[in-house]
Amino acid sequence: MKVAILGAGAMGTGIGQIAAQQGCDVVYFDNYPGAIGRSSASIEKVFGRLVEKGRMSEAEKTETLSRMNWSDDLSSIDGADLVVEAVIEDLKVKKELLQKAEQHLSDTAWLCTNTSSLSIAALSSGLKHPERFGGLHFFNPAPLMPLVEIVPGIQSGEDFADAMEELMVAWGKIPVLAKDTPGFIVNKVARPFYSEAIKLYEEGVASIAEIDAAVKSMGFRMGPFELTDLIGHDVNYKVTETVWGQFYYDPRFRPSISQKRLLEAGLLGRKTGRGFYNYSSGMDAAVEAQEDAELDPILGEKIVERILCLIINEGLDTVWLGIASPTNVDLALTKGVNYPKGPISWGQELGWDYVLSVLERCHKFYGDDRYRPCPLLRHLVSENAELGEGNLGDSFMI
Ligand SMILES: NC(=O)c1ccc[n+]([C@@H]2O[C@H](COP(=O)([O-])OP(=O)(O)OC[C@H]3O[C@@H](n4cnc5c(N)ncnc54)[C@H](O)[C@@H]3O)[C@@H](O)[C@H]2O)c1
Repeated sequence: MKVAILGAGAMGTGIGQIAAQQGCDVVYFDNYPGAIGRSSASIEKVFGRLVEKGRMSEAEKTETLSRMNWSDDLSSIDGADLVVEAVIEDLKVKKELLQKAEQHLSDTAWLCTNTSSLSIAALSSGLKHPERFGGLHFFNPAPLMPLVEIVPGIQSGEDFADAMEELMVAWGKIPVLAKDTPGFIVNKVARPFYSEAIKLYEEGVASIAEIDAAVKSMGFRMGPFELTDLIGHDVNYKVTETVWGQFYYDPRFRPSISQKRLLEAGLLGRKTGRGFYNYSSGMDAAVEAQEDAELDPILGEKIVERILCLIINEGLDTVWLGIASPTNVDLALTKGVNYPKGPISWGQELGWDYVLSVLERCHKFYGDDRYRPCPLLRHLVSENAELGEGNLGDSFMI
C-alpha cells in the first residue's frame, strides 16, 4: 500500500512513521524550505532511538527507511492508495492542496485530512471525488497516541468510515467515529479543561501553579497551564477561537483574554521561553512552581469540581448531539489526551445529580450560559438513569 503525506511537519512526519512501520511505502510531500530535511532527520533520530532500545533492529531500520521518501514535487504522490493531508491549519491552503493532490490520484484512492478544527464539509467542497474524502484525526505525538477520530463529512461515501476503521485497527490504533462538528470529540470536550482553569485564574481564585497542582491531584498528567504552554498558545488559542466561532459564539467555548494577551505578546509557551510560566531558568519551571504551591485542599476541590463538571457536561452534550457514543467519548479523552477517566464514566461515578448541582450553582451565580446544564444531564437526574449506548431513544426531548 502506498501512503502519501501532505505536509511533513510534526503531525505528518509521525503519521508517515506509523504507516511505514506497518509496512506501507510512504512518500512525504512538503514544499517549505527546510521542512523535508527536518522531517527526515527526525525520523532517523526516532529510529536510532528505537534501535538503541532494542525495539527495532538495524536491518528493520534500513528496510523501513528504504520505503520512505521525501519530495517537494507533488507528482511523487502518484498512485497513492491513501493520502493524509497534514499541512498548516488554514482552510484556503488545505483546500487548494487537496484539489491539486486529487489530480494525481486514481478514483479508488482515499483522501483524508488531519485537521483539528476545520469543517470536513468545507474542505470537501470543490473536490472531484468528495465521496472518497473525510477526516482522519491523529493526536500528538501520532506514533504514541493510540486514538484516531474518523470523521465522515456530509459528502463522504458510506464506505469511508468502515474502510478507515479497518485500516486504523490494522495499524494498531483505536478509532472512534465522530460527526463533522466543530472540534469533533476531543477538541470540543476538552475546551473547559483550559478555559475554565484560565477563568478561575482571571477571577483571582488561585494562582496558575495552584490550579495546575489541584488538577494534577485528580490524576491528570499535566495541569491546564503547563499543558497550554507545551502545546503553544498560538495553537491552543486558535483551536478554542475556531470552535467558539463555529458554534456560533456559544459562551461555553468563549476564549480567554489572558491567553490572547500571551499570544499577542509572542509569549507562546515553552517554545518561546515564556507563556503562563517563565522558563528562562529551565523547563522545570512549571513543576517547581507547583511543588511550592500551598493550596487550601477545600479550595483545590472546588477548583477541580468546576473544571471537571464542565468537561462532563461537554461530554454529555457530545452524546446528546449525536456527535459520538458514550463509549467513544470516554475512549477519545482517555486515549487521545490521556485523561485519567472518561468524562461519561467520571460523571456516572460522581453522580449526575452532583454534576447538575455544581453547574446550576455556577449558572445561577454567574448568570452565564457557559454553565447551562445539558438537557441530557437533566434527563439522567430526573429519571435517575444510567447512560448506556442504547438508551437515548426514550423520546424525552419533546
Ligand atoms: N500539532 C498538533 O498537536 C496537532 C494534533 C492533531 C492535528 N493537528 C493538525 O495537523 C495539521 C498539521 O499540524 P502540525 O502541528 O504538524 O503543523 P506543522 O506546522 O508542524 O507542519 C505543517 C507542515 O505543512 C507544510 N506546509 C504548509 N503549507 C504547505 C503546502 N501548501 N504544501 C505542502 N506543505 C505545506 C509546512 O512546511 C510544515 O512542514 C494541522 O491541520 C493541525 O491542526 C495538529
